[in-house]
Amino acid sequence: MRAAGRGLLVLAVVLSGYVASGTRSGEAADGGRGPLTLATAGDLTDYLDPLLRGWNRTHPAEKVTLVELPDSADETHAQMTTDLRGGDRGRFDVLNIDVNWTSEFAAAGWIRPLPPDRFPLRSFLRPVVDTATYDGRLYAVPYVTNAGLLLYRRDVLAKEGLPPPRTWAELEHDAKTVAPKYGLGGYAGQFLPYEGLTVNAAEAVYSAGGTILGDEGTRVTVDSDAAREGIGFLARGVREGWIPKAALTYKEEESKEAFQDGRLLFLRNWPYAYAVASAPGSKVAGKIGAVRLPGPHGPGKSVLGGSNLAVNTHARHPDSAARLIAYLTSEPVQRQVLTRGALPPVRAALYDDPALVRRFPYLPILRDAVRTAEPRPKSPRYDQVSLVVQAVVQDALTGHETPAAAVRRLARELAAISDR
Ligand code: GLC
Repeated sequence: MRAAGRGLLVLAVVLSGYVASGTRSGEAADGGRGPLTLATAGDLTDYLDPLLRGWNRTHPAEKVTLVELPDSADETHAQMTTDLRGGDRGRFDVLNIDVNWTSEFAAAGWIRPLPPDRFPLRSFLRPVVDTATYDGRLYAVPYVTNAGLLLYRRDVLAKEGLPPPRTWAELEHDAKTVAPKYGLGGYAGQFLPYEGLTVNAAEAVYSAGGTILGDEGTRVTVDSDAAREGIGFLARGVREGWIPKAALTYKEEESKEAFQDGRLLFLRNWPYAYAVASAPGSKVAGKIGAVRLPGPHGPGKSVLGGSNLAVNTHARHPDSAARLIAYLTSEPVQRQVLTRGALPPVRAALYDDPALVRRFPYLPILRDAVRTAEPRPKSPRYDQVSLVVQAVVQDALTGHETPAAAVRRLARELAAISDR
């Protein structure tokens, strides 16, 4: 914490000239204020439009237009990077980017450094601020955080007199023996090859005590018994059928539908899925619970998810962009991110708010999961790293390669990215 605090101080000093230089660049002859576009991946809970209307009502000269891109993180990444590479200003002024894209976007010069003192960074949960920095500077502002949870059918486990699983062995046992008695599939996550598969594979590897790359984001560390155990756990599930084959086609939404339709005993997903599946009208409302992800010997590791708000280097109105970001990270709006959007806010104090904890009983579990969540490798080539992980892990899950061979190949292919 102390080191992080010092880091912020340095940032504040380094960037104190930000506003002046923004104005000198001549991009903002009008003081940098005016209309904006905000690009985001699919808004799965449809909360963002009404929330932005609040800003538009009070900022008529700085109206924001929402551009909603596809649900899949990879497709959104492709559309954003195509636009940013386009040379022109691009269509997007403010970008709601996945936490693991900050390094790539910053290294490419697509997003501009931001002045830390304009944003309430000290009020945020500890691990999230780091995802917004690159090369010692702040390039984005944390907006939403995320950590994987295990959702389970409380009604079914209660009938069997079983507690929710804490270890992989318990999960595997219940998925194999209890689920079929109730006509349910055992366990699913997001196993289609896209960013979601990278997340699920990383959680399995991290939970077993392994890593993928060193902290500096280049050294390949994946070749380990832990990685073989993690990938082996998922591959065995598919081979033995307690992970249904259909799960190999699931992203977040499809897996949530399967659980919400009453077709699964266990689901790994982000907290929004728990909130949506518990809401009135859901088939499984009142019948489900959420706990930390299990691991081989007790609670496992979640990958740190979420998104950060960044400003296009060529944004039409950088001052308005920063003002919009300050609004979206303000306390009242962060509260709505949770209450309307079912997304985990970045402001730490909201997790202790008694009224919110009453309404969202999983908040303390979520805060623990976020606090202990592991970031994905921080690399300007993260997109390539993730593509390799997806491709290799898919071959292990479909049985085309043994987990041991898959881990060896993963190590080779990741090393090739670092060498390029
Ligand atoms: C969620 C997470 C994000 C992750 C994505 C994977 O949107 O917040 O960090 O990359 O899911 O599908």
